[in-house]
Amino acid sequence: MAYKQYILVCSGTACESNKGNALYQELNRALHSEGLQEDVQLVKTGCFGFCEKGPIIKILPDETFYVQVDPDDAKEIASEHLVKGRPVERLIYRGEDQSAERAEDLPFYRKQLRLVLRNCGVIDPDSIDEYIAREGYAALEKALFELGADRTIDELMKSGLRGRGGAGFLTAKKWLFTRKAESEEKYVVCNADEGDPGAYMDRSTLEGDPHSVLEAMTIAGYTVGAQRGYIYIRAEYPLAIERLQNAIEQARGYGLLGEDILGSGFGFDIEIRLGAGAFVCGEETALLASIEGRRGMPVPRPPFPAVKGLWGKPTVINNVETFANVPLILLRGGDWFSKIGTETSKGTKVFALTGKINNSGLIEVPMGTTLREIIYDIGGGIKDGRAFKAVQTGGPSGGVIPADHLDTPIDYENLQKLGSIMGSGGMIVMDEDDCMVSVAKFYLEFTVEESCGKCAPCRVGGRTLFNILDRITRGEGEMADLKKIRDLSQAMRRASLCGLGQTASNPVASILRHFEDELTAHIKKKKCPSGKCKDLVQYYILPDKCIGCTLCARHCPVNCISGERQKPHVIDINRCIKCGECYKVCKFGAVMRG
Ligand SMILES: Cc1cc2nc3c(=O)[nH]c(=O)nc-3n(C[C@H](O)[C@H](O)[C@H](O)COP(=O)(O)O)c2cc1C
Ligand code: SF4
Ligand code: SF4
Ligand code: FES
Repeated sequence: MAYKQYILVCSGTACESNKGNALYQELNRALHSEGLQEDVQLVKTGCFGFCEKGPIIKILPDETFYVQVDPDDAKEIASEHLVKGRPVERLIYRGEDQSAERAEDLPFYRKQLRLVLRNCGVIDPDSIDEYIAREGYAALEKALFELGADRTIDELMKSGLRGRGGAGFLTAKKWLFTRKAESEEKYVVCNADEGDPGAYMDRSTLEGDPHSVLEAMTIAGYTVGAQRGYIYIRAEYPLAIERLQNAIEQARGYGLLGEDILGSGFGFDIEIRLGAGAFVCGEETALLASIEGRRGMPVPRPPFPAVKGLWGKPTVINNVETFANVPLILLRGGDWFSKIGTETSKGTKVFALTGKINNSGLIEVPMGTTLREIIYDIGGGIKDGRAFKAVQTGGPSGGVIPADHLDTPIDYENLQKLGSIMGSGGMIVMDEDDCMVSVAKFYLEFTVEESCGKCAPCRVGGRTLFNILDRITRGEGEMADLKKIRDLSQAMRRASLCGLGQTASNPVASILRHFEDELTAHIKKKKCPSGKCKDLVQYYILPDKCIGCTLCARHCPVNCISGERQKPHVIDINRCIKCGECYKVCKFGAVMRG
């Protein structure tokens, strides 16, 4: 049936949890009541990326992009836009750039290049036919019947694709090692653990385009000589799991998984394995142990999984985003891919852009895009007109990057030079109100809690490091603590068994590097410049500036501000809970923080 118009409704987790499902139902109802069901197709798609403004729908062919759509808007969209061709102006997102008519022209999308996310927000993730209509499974066919295993790896090698799970190892090399390892049985594993708090790109890719990962895993299986694949995914991702399960069944039904795929004689199948959401289970050796039904604890490498992996057999293990790149590389060629990005880092990177930023969401940019372009052009700058302070990349294994490095083109090497890492792609923007010492403490607390406890440098070192930072944020630090932090960090880096312990000190090391002043202010002056560390902050009102407008007193949640109208007010510091509301609301600069 040929439809005249299409309504793409985002069914990513963010939009679905924001009445997205009800919106879909209402749109469906409205189409029927207007008698449009034969002409307009309603399609549930994956995430459009602009989650901040969800629920989002897009209408084709005119590409109208509606944001923050309520189920109650469905009738108007049907009767005005679909029937009369008059877009509902109040739902169109134009941002600052009033001239943008198509979604792609919005500032949020203009500098993006959606390769990994090519099908997210475009196709129905539950429909294998829609995936096939967008060149789906053509790369598998090409690998099986045209390229063969060696040339498939050659194309990957030419592309320069590096692992997106954190370490940035060349994907082709990994596949080659596994291909060369001699064994009757081999495995392909997809790491969908996504342990970095604040990151959700792997989940969104699986929710929006599950077949791209299945296709890539099957290509990997054929290339290295494996017959079975596992997707290790955390149980907290129910929508991604449901879509994956459905995609696996559809692929089996079409002969794209199972025995004798496309009549090639090659057989491969994929199963899902659920993880309980422990950060250490994202580490590849711990992940393999967890799939085998053992406790997720790392073991020393080498031997690497490529040689001795799942059940002791050679195993390719790649991240979701790494896999999602593969079909496109085979279709367009390794040379095409290698032209995107920088000298050392090819292709694009998906980031989960969050924190104090106007347009938070899921973005994909070519490697080499600068932090400034990401934060200001795509992210729309800092919330509430506050000043940018730093951006945290790489999650618990990464660090913060201050304003003077905003023009750094991001790639694996540049981020590392700044003392941070690419990691899986979490990117948290911080403003002047964020305390860098508290940020380091937050990540350290996370890694201490997530340490599996197997080795002492991580188990004991992490806890000791955390205690030092905790003391500093309470105003009980000493300058000698800085040396202790450096020594402990080095010991953990050198002696920990796995990446968790080896990198746990990175956040604090990067604060020492870029924000040492702030750290010493906590220690020497017993002050927290951003006012976050409650033990080090006191709020008071300057009598000569206070005009007695009563705004602070009305906003104080514990009613500890007293004073008559038009007379200076006073804070009872014994009852003050240091929430900072009075400081934020005072328009006369009378409330001070010190
Ligand atoms: C503590 C720890 C947690 C990790 N968590 C993840 C994760 O959640 N997802 C992921 O893909 N890789 C994670 N990694 C990296 C994996 O061990 C591995 O390098 C990666 O899955 C390899 O795939 P790639 O080459 O495609 O990046 C983690 C590593 C460490 C040390
Ligand atoms: S470094 Fe930490 S997480 Fe890794 S094995 Fe040692 S104790 Fe476990
Ligand atoms: S900081 Fe919060 S609790 Fe304290 S006086 Fe101001 S508004 Fe009240
Ligand atoms: S979940 Fe809808 S735009 Fe991201």
